[in-house]
Amino acid sequence: MATLVRACSVDDIEEEGVHRFDHGDRTFAIYHSPDGEFFATDGLCTHEHAHLAEGIVDGHEIECPLHFGAFDYRSGIPTVAPACVALKTYSVKVEDGSVFIDIDGG
Ligand code: FES
Repeated sequence: MATLVRACSVDDIEEEGVHRFDHGDRTFAIYHSPDGEFFATDGLCTHEHAHLAEGIVDGHEIECPLHFGAFDYRSGIPTVAPACVALKTYSVKVEDGSVFIDIDGG
């Protein structure tokens, strides 16, 4: 079952930007792609748990701020070492200027 939670406003994230969203004891990263779509992943890097929202978005990739590993944030697949374990991704819905993520879904 989907559990949609409002993460932010669409205006909170520039294109090719990333936004940290904390919910309970969980943290997520929300991305605004260069083609205007929104995506969400777990907020912590799978390598050593740095906050990805402090990293840099380049096209469809997020570069981790700690060791500069990278992931494709659309699929969660690592693209640059030392990142080697995929990020969990979450479905995103945009409605009335807000970005919602399905915190239970994949
Ligand atoms: Fe992200 Fe090391 S913590 S690449």
